[in-house]
Amino acid sequence: MCGIVGYIGDQEAYPILIKGLHRLEYRGYDSAGVALINNESDLSVYKAKGKVVALEQLCSEKDVSGTIGIAHTRWATHGEPNEVNAHPHFSQSRHLALVHNGIIENYKSLRAELEKNGFTFCSQTDTEVLVQWVEHMQNTHHCDLYTAVQLALKNVVGAYAIAILDKTNPDQLVCARKGSPLIIGVSKNESGRSEFYLGSDATPIIEYTNKVVYLKDEEIAIMDRTGRLDITNLANVKQTPQLCTLQMSLDQLEKGGFPHFMLKEIWEQPNALRTCIRGRLNIVDKDVILSGILDNKDKFINCRRIIICACGTSWHSALIGKYFIEEAAHIPVEVEYASEFRYRNPVIYPDDVVIAVSQSGETADTLAAIQLAKSKGAFLYGICNVIGSSIARATDSGTYLHVGPEIGVASTKAFTGQVITLGLLGLAIAKEKGTLDDKIFHMLVDELQQIPDKMQWTLDHNKDIAHFAQMFTYCKNFIYLGRGYNYPVALEGALKLKEISYIHAEGYPAAEMKHGPIALVDEEMPVVVIAPKRGMYDKVVSNIQEIKSRKGKIISVVTEGDTVVKEMSDYCFVIPDTRDCFVPLLAVIPLQLLSYYVAIAKGRNVDQPRNLAKSVTVE
Ligand code: G6P
Repeated sequence: MCGIVGYIGDQEAYPILIKGLHRLEYRGYDSAGVALINNESDLSVYKAKGKVVALEQLCSEKDVSGTIGIAHTRWATHGEPNEVNAHPHFSQSRHLALVHNGIIENYKSLRAELEKNGFTFCSQTDTEVLVQWVEHMQNTHHCDLYTAVQLALKNVVGAYAIAILDKTNPDQLVCARKGSPLIIGVSKNESGRSEFYLGSDATPIIEYTNKVVYLKDEEIAIMDRTGRLDITNLANVKQTPQLCTLQMSLDQLEKGGFPHFMLKEIWEQPNALRTCIRGRLNIVDKDVILSGILDNKDKFINCRRIIICACGTSWHSALIGKYFIEEAAHIPVEVEYASEFRYRNPVIYPDDVVIAVSQSGETADTLAAIQLAKSKGAFLYGICNVIGSSIARATDSGTYLHVGPEIGVASTKAFTGQVITLGLLGLAIAKEKGTLDDKIFHMLVDELQQIPDKMQWTLDHNKDIAHFAQMFTYCKNFIYLGRGYNYPVALEGALKLKEISYIHAEGYPAAEMKHGPIALVDEEMPVVVIAPKRGMYDKVVSNIQEIKSRKGKIISVVTEGDTVVKEMSDYCFVIPDTRDCFVPLLAVIPLQLLSYYVAIAKGRNVDQPRNLAKSVTVE
């Protein structure tokens, strides 16, 4: 949610900043801007409404020289998306320019105080208040930028990642964070001179260096052209920068011949999941090795219950995780929307295990939920994709998905990565607790091992649906139905369609349909039913009958070889047979493809759907 890029070094900053903005565009794309200081120490700011290309177009006629700069791509919180509200924001004297990700909660009172001191404002943003407040600190304390930022942030309530330029000191870049991520890339050029890169995540940095420092909450960093990287916290205590090595490659950030990241990520799933389970499933000894569980087995064996906190798609995978952990490890599991959990004074015991599931590892509500759980003494476990992310660092232990960077705003491979990771976790706990019969445990290990191949089969057998999807562009509503493990899949299928095609869709437990949604069914209503030949097959067949007799259009997901549901359906997706608990990993694939192709047929921007952002770092 909003992306920040920065650079200081010997190279021209503008191309680095623009490329970085393109990489971060998935975080927000309603407006973008850049600030540069040129050799004459002029500070220029250029901003445009819309995507980063609009900014590029504007800048093609401007002087964009300079070897220090900051840039921003925005997802609006305060003030509508337009050029004035876009970042960077100038201070009153236009000596300072600042970009910001997050929300300054007390901006109104700060603004009132500034107005009393003669400051005037161009925008409605909390960010302009922040840059003016920094200038106010400079004016009143006659201090350097670094100190002014430190003083200013002490007065700020809220979350922020900021980067700031001062034209009176064109050799320094200052940044800070609290609650929103910021990473500093550290490198030396061929002449041995230092360069620093800033990014909201590693994607704008990896092209230049894999050595990074993750800024921690309430830390302020100053970088200069001599190679100085000083970090202090708000209490002015010097911190030692810890250099980490990124595990990411550039080609993971490219579309690799696919028209969209979403389609690439859908097709990447078999390989992504192979990487996710590599080293964790031992097929020879029929074992599951999750170091996060092994190192903390007492916590899991003795816990009273598990609470999983998540948002969006991650909440859906958490629900599947609940069903499996309860079945395999016999531990009660509650699944919570992090945004609700954090504000409703939940009962949390010190012997609870709280698991945060988050692709980005930065979702503000999920982070706040685990901070609350920590304050009550619970053991925290993180299931994240982004390495070094805030949630990964705030938890006591955890497991990374290792499915590679996910760029498409609609989550696909992270969902299946989360489901399989929660499956591994359930098995690992079950092994420690001895809750599964050996034969069943071994059979599940064997089956899990085959899932990536079965995903490939599913992709190969359902890929030609572009034409079929076109038939649904006229639809205003969809219903998705599933039971048991496939109820969360119905929720996820409906969410995917809503997110990228803007067609209203509802996911429902199939039998609950009778208590309301069936009233919506008529000959215009497509009903997607997940009906594998497993578990509650016969019950789902009855549910399909109920829809058919009301003339609804049936789109089903069936097991290969099924004829009964196939005959009842207007269209059928096939998946290979697998155990009930692993069906979601296969059944979700045709639903991802369906939403993708319906959105394409409607001419939507699938990678950057309106109003959404990949990483929601504000509440
Ligand atoms: C946003 C994204 C979703 C994601 C959700 C939770 O809404 O658009 O794709 O599921 O945030 O994000 P997380 O990174 O915590 O999984």
